[in-house]
Amino acid sequence: MIKCNNVLEQANDLSALILKRWQVLLATGDFVLGEEVAKFEAWMSERCNGANAISLNSGTDALILALRALGIGPGDEVITCANTFVATVGAIVAAGAKPVLADVGDDELINVDTIEPLMNARTKAVIPVYLRGRPLNIDAIIDLCRSRGVVVIEDCAQAIGTTIDGHQVGTRGDASAFSMHPLKTLGGFGDGGVLVTTHPEIAEYAIKARNHGLETRNESVLFGVNSRLDSLQASALNLKVQYLDQWLKRRVEIAAFYDQALSRTATTVDLGRGKPGGSYYHYVVQSKHRDRLQSFLAENDIHAAVHYPTPIHWQEAWLKSQPPVVLPNTERLSREMLTLPCHHHLTDSDVEKVVATIKRFDLMEKQ
Ligand SMILES: Cc1ncc(COP(=O)(O)O)c(C=O)c1O
Repeated sequence: MIKCNNVLEQANDLSALILKRWQVLLATGDFVLGEEVAKFEAWMSERCNGANAISLNSGTDALILALRALGIGPGDEVITCANTFVATVGAIVAAGAKPVLADVGDDELINVDTIEPLMNARTKAVIPVYLRGRPLNIDAIIDLCRSRGVVVIEDCAQAIGTTIDGHQVGTRGDASAFSMHPLKTLGGFGDGGVLVTTHPEIAEYAIKARNHGLETRNESVLFGVNSRLDSLQASALNLKVQYLDQWLKRRVEIAAFYDQALSRTATTVDLGRGKPGGSYYHYVVQSKHRDRLQSFLAENDIHAAVHYPTPIHWQEAWLKSQPPVVLPNTERLSREMLTLPCHHHLTDSDVEKVVATIKRFDLMEKQ
């Protein structure tokens, strides 16, 4: 089977090295927020042009704590998109604010044209999502938001390695959220996340809030949560960062091959094509016959996945708590998008097989 993700293969490749690191750690008793965590935060900060990097238990917590740090809560509206992992919207609700969903462009990304009409006096934040690790027009969104006194929290959960003008995304807005979930391009063997910010006061809040507001072992200055990254995850991440750029390079290579090889099929190529800086967390094609194409690929031992089949405004969680909304582009894309295998464990012949199978499907559809 040609798999859509390489979580198990990564674990197998690195298990000896990781177990060795973990054995050393187990002997130190340094299990939570220890040296390995500090080392990982330093790496992340360097990756993000020197911004503050505060490790947390998840990308979801990074979004929630960023919203809280920026004073967003009940009575406030936060604009984001519906074609994202449910965590983006769940974090807004968890912070006590009202999520407002903007439609996306044909590139699946939120933009100023879809955000601006939804803004009003209650709008306090916008959360653009770098879906699939695609760069988006963040400067235009920030300009619009600054002109209205609205903060920007970048959802970079899928965007480690995504760059704009050669720089890692996640430092232009007021804060950003990265996920180190095992499925991510840089993932631990359990949950993890990072809040990145250039504002020292947001960093200070997150450092306290992730640990119950504790300033000393027994003195709490604010009510927070338990969102500490553990040393075992940090140590695995510190090992993986050594390979990250190599892995990203392979994803970009595969994406370029797909772009070129699929350009003459009825299946539209990745809509982020031509935009430099993509990290290809997902490589997505669009097909009017998506479900049949997915089944045909499966019959040929190729796993292609759908991210995300049910947009958030069609989920039960939304329907029972939020007003109905119609998002034509989001809804259409949810029926047409298909994620092809794109990760560093694929060989050239795997990728060629994916292309050949899609071409065969195309020919069958034409007959
Ligand atoms: C776009 C997006 N936002 C937020 C999250 C939440 O991250 P985590 O699973 O680390 O809480 C994810 C994770 O899949 C995501 O893809």
